[in-house]
Amino acid sequence: MMEGKNMLSLHPLLLVGAIIGAVSVVLIIAYASIRDKKQSMGFDRHMKDGEIIRRLLVYARPYYRQFILVGVIMLLGIAYDIVSPLIVGRITDMIQGDFALSDLYTLVAVYGSILLVSMGCTYVQAILLQKVGQKIISGMREDLFVHIEALSHSQMTAIPVGKLVTRITNDTNAISLMFTTLLVNLIKNVFVVAGVLGAMVMLNYELTLMVLCFVPFIVLFTVIFRKFARRAYRKVKDRTTDINTYLSENLSGIKITQIFNRQGEKLRDFSQKSHDLGGAKREQIFIFGIFRPLVYMLYISSVLCLFYLGGKGYLEGTVFLGQALTSGTIVSFYMYINKFFTPIQNLAEQFNWLQSAFASAEKVFTIMDMEPGLPDAPDAVELPEVKGDIEFRDMWFSYVPGEWVLKGVSFHVKPGQTVAFVGATGSGKTTILSLICRNYEFQKGQILIDGVDIRRIKAASLRRHFGQMLQDVFLFSGTVRSNLALGLPATDEEIMAACRYVHADSFIERLEKGLHEPVREQGNNFSAGQRQLLSFARTILHAPQVLILDEATANIDTQTEVLIQDSLQKMMARGTMLMVAHRLSTIQHADNIIVLNKGRITEQGTHQKLLEQRGKYYQLYTLQFERERGTGA
Ligand SMILES: Nc1ncnc2c1ncn2[C@@H]1O[C@H](COP(=O)(O)OP(=O)(O)OP(=O)(O)O)[C@@H](O)[C@H]1O
Ligand SMILES: [Mg+2]
Repeated sequence: MMEGKNMLSLHPLLLVGAIIGAVSVVLIIAYASIRDKKQSMGFDRHMKDGEIIRRLLVYARPYYRQFILVGVIMLLGIAYDIVSPLIVGRITDMIQGDFALSDLYTLVAVYGSILLVSMGCTYVQAILLQKVGQKIISGMREDLFVHIEALSHSQMTAIPVGKLVTRITNDTNAISLMFTTLLVNLIKNVFVVAGVLGAMVMLNYELTLMVLCFVPFIVLFTVIFRKFARRAYRKVKDRTTDINTYLSENLSGIKITQIFNRQGEKLRDFSQKSHDLGGAKREQIFIFGIFRPLVYMLYISSVLCLFYLGGKGYLEGTVFLGQALTSGTIVSFYMYINKFFTPIQNLAEQFNWLQSAFASAEKVFTIMDMEPGLPDAPDAVELPEVKGDIEFRDMWFSYVPGEWVLKGVSFHVKPGQTVAFVGATGSGKTTILSLICRNYEFQKGQILIDGVDIRRIKAASLRRHFGQMLQDVFLFSGTVRSNLALGLPATDEEIMAACRYVHADSFIERLEKGLHEPVREQGNNFSAGQRQLLSFARTILHAPQVLILDEATANIDTQTEVLIQDSLQKMMARGTMLMVAHRLSTIQHADNIIVLNKGRITEQGTHQKLLEQRGKYYQLYTLQFERERGTGA
């Protein structure tokens, strides 16, 4: 008889155990099946967690007082979680026998006040953390931006813009989440779990032991969940970067897409990427969708066990190690189990977010660790002024190792001279000009400015004396004025004087708002000729000692061309000038014309001398001359 009753009484617990065991086996099998695939997931972490934490702490350190304050407030807030089940248990026990209403009121009042204090604490804590977190993150964002600004032309060419945008926005956000929510919740949850455990032990050993039986399963589920979740999260991130990169490029090039009627293809590419991102997100939600109910199942099972064991113990009046079971104990435990499971489940998810915050931090730090290209040499000097003597000595340069773009270029420009570079497209004209301003590091040879090797001149000081007018004029969104001044404290009169000098004044005056006319992104609302005039004015305003002009090939109406020709003549008279000209008529008065072919100098001399030589320049000139006459006739 006794035997049978025991078997029967074990039955419900066995059922619970069997279900949990079966689920665990399924999970372990799923886990084993993905192990080999995990290596194929893109971004590998290289930095140790410790190093990442150390570097993050550098940003958090100035706010340590606020963090301590948050810690204290947090502990106060936890009190509610620990104490409230005890009070409710007490109330339950009390209302079963005779009780004074005033006692009940007292307990309810205590409960209410603890609740209020806890809510207040949570609020203050959230506000404090948000403040600190946002400060930390803006500091980091700014550091990152400053660092990106210091990268060299070749480094910038190597990283897609969309990727940098993702680093500065999404990744810093993930890190800020860590400071504002994750860290504190992690600590809080650890305390809550410990506190709840302590309170449970105090109430009843036997029931605590029962609850603890579920812990290994929670740990197991969590470990497996983390593996899947991390994979899914990484996918989401990679695909977000992917879509950002695609967008930033294609929105800039949308005109080409429209001109070539490629909207359909672009849409297909985009929807593929959008679909991939959607898939990754679905996978993530799916994984959370499995994990949460599983933990809930464990929770419900433990509650069932509590009612079963508790009810049985209560009925049988069991006293275990001196602890009797009351109905209040069961109620308190019922509440504690909830408070025990929720933080554990949160911990698992928060560890994941923490991991991804670390991954973001690593990506951000990887960019910060990129040594700015072309750092100034330790013994680099300031150039107080430049006379304008420029010499290239046997210059060899390649953008891509092995593919020489300049092959032994040598020339000498004397102060005040105007030198023009002529040659077929791709012959290396723009490259020569950008080497003078040290936009790229060259491999062999020497460039001397006033007899000083440019590798021994501070880049900023070099660029102050050289005014570069690039082949494609870039205008920022803002106003005409802001684009001309670029932060230089200049008066409107000074700016207009520069504009008059290059004949940009007439069209600016015709603008509705003059200097304050808005400039849209990339100067879209100005014509190519107008943009070129603006870039001349910009350079003249900054009064450099050497002018460098890479003339755009874009066709300009005859009227504007006359204006540009005239302003060029004036600029030539100012000092040393190096220019690439596509209209050879512009450079007839140049002191030296250098003809380039595939990265080598083939001829040089004045216009007259080169014409007499009847070489490449002669060919080019007669060709252009005839064509112009042809169109003129
Ligand atoms: N950032 C870069 N990375 C790799 N190769 C480059 C880069 N910029 C230019 N090149 C290569 O270097 C060569 C010379 O280019 P460069 O811009 O100096 O020509 P260019 O003489 O100015 O031509 P154009 O008259 O068309 O302006 C070209 O073959 C080009 O493919
Ligand atoms: Mg060029």
